[in-house]
Amino acid sequence: MIDYNQRSAKLKSVKSEKSAEIRDLPRVPRLRSFRNSWALAANPIPVITDYLDQFGDTVGLYLGGVRPTLLTRDPGLIQHVLQKNHRNYPKSELTRGVARYLGHGLLTSEGSYWLQQRRLIQPGFHRQRIAALTELMLDVIDECLAPVLDAAGKQGGVAQVAVHELMTATAFRIIARSVFSSSMTEAELQQMARLLTELQGFYVRTLRQPYLRPWLGVTGQYRLHDGLAAELRQLIRGYIQRRKQEQQADPGFAKDDLLQMLLDARYEDSGEAMTDEQVLDEAAILLVAGHETAANALSWLWLLLARHPEEAAKVRAEMQRVLGSRRPSFTDLPQLPYSMQVVQETMRLYPPVWIVDRQAAEDDEYNGLPLPKGTLISAYLYGVHHLPRLWPEPEAFCPARFGKDQPAPPTYAYLPFGGGPRLCIGNQFALTEMQLVLLEVLRRFEVEWQEQPPIQMRPLITLRPRAEINLRFRAR
Ligand code: HEM
Repeated sequence: MIDYNQRSAKLKSVKSEKSAEIRDLPRVPRLRSFRNSWALAANPIPVITDYLDQFGDTVGLYLGGVRPTLLTRDPGLIQHVLQKNHRNYPKSELTRGVARYLGHGLLTSEGSYWLQQRRLIQPGFHRQRIAALTELMLDVIDECLAPVLDAAGKQGGVAQVAVHELMTATAFRIIARSVFSSSMTEAELQQMARLLTELQGFYVRTLRQPYLRPWLGVTGQYRLHDGLAAELRQLIRGYIQRRKQEQQADPGFAKDDLLQMLLDARYEDSGEAMTDEQVLDEAAILLVAGHETAANALSWLWLLLARHPEEAAKVRAEMQRVLGSRRPSFTDLPQLPYSMQVVQETMRLYPPVWIVDRQAAEDDEYNGLPLPKGTLISAYLYGVHHLPRLWPEPEAFCPARFGKDQPAPPTYAYLPFGGGPRLCIGNQFALTEMQLVLLEVLRRFEVEWQEQPPIQMRPLITLRPRAEINLRFRAR
């Protein structure tokens, strides 16, 4: 049997270790943590930000009033944990718990098993591979924007667009096609999106309100959600089996997608391929990690550009200069830096992964702060991206701050893709995809704000908008 956390006795002992408490650390009183646990569950960002503003950049609190956690927005401490001393900080059981619903892919595995998988999969994300996927991405974007153009044509040139829905469908189709080549039916797309939302919502609830667990058990909620996870896996298993049947029927059959890369990859030492279940685990993780994040970033991007048409105009001016009216190619992208700055600034304001967690495997310290074995550490990426001493006017949308003429942000002040060896494997894929969506939408439409209640954030594992973002797309 595979040990997905194959590392050492060290990690296993952390598993069973209760998360440690640190002395000499500013601490949110337990009663206050407990009293705020409903507010934290419902809307954590304001609650967490309040704590840090009051107690300092690193604070101890009781998650859900129960679990001692160290929460930090200190870039130095985050770099220490994610990069400099990363060997001492495996992902915590909070992340490993995701494996119950999504399986043991790159995101949820550890130690030598993780390293071996990372080495195997990394080539699938090399620059050349991303370049080769650009045409596919552009085709999907065409497909997804066609109905919007149609609707605009029928309504005097203006379509009402539910932006989060459109961006989720687009990002999902892009990753699904990159992994599986096949086009999924609309029904499968809807089913998968529903399963993922329900599983994510439930898992986050078990983390934020651990005291509800017995009740969730008694009322059959765990059983229900295990069933949904099985449904999701069955759906993906179907794609893998279909591919294998196609190959058996026609040995010359070749697809140039990430699934084929997973099926063809061979371990260096044994020359063996992954088992079907391993391929399934990795494909499931790529599918999940690869669409929800980009969909959220793109949704926030359109909200920001609709509120700041002057920034959209700058992107369009750059496009006119470099592309005229043609569609971009992969080699054009570096010539369009302002569009990339818009993407970067969007992810500063709304980092799609807003928090990451680790757990100390052994006693450690950082600048005199003891970090005993078992300490749960939550790196609050959203907080780092909004710190006034790192980012002047942190709440302002200002893509120019990422310009070449500006000083680079301080180390670990900007980390939408995490840091250290567990840096997002899909970062270049995601940046290319988001830049292309931005350019292709602006080539076809003016995106306009329309009055609606303020859009709140909904931080689950990723940072979603709490309500739909409704905008007007005016055909150009
Ligand atoms: C805007 C888009 C994206 C953002 C903001 C993002 C962010 C992140 C972050 C912060 C991590 C590190 C988590 C940690 O350290 O605990 C991560 C890991 C990961 N991401 Fe992404 N991601 C994005 C898109 C993608 C895409 C498109 C893919 C795949 C096609 C992907 C696949 C993964 C995988 C497999 C991991 C785990 C890597 C490992 O542990 O070796 N991500 N991502």
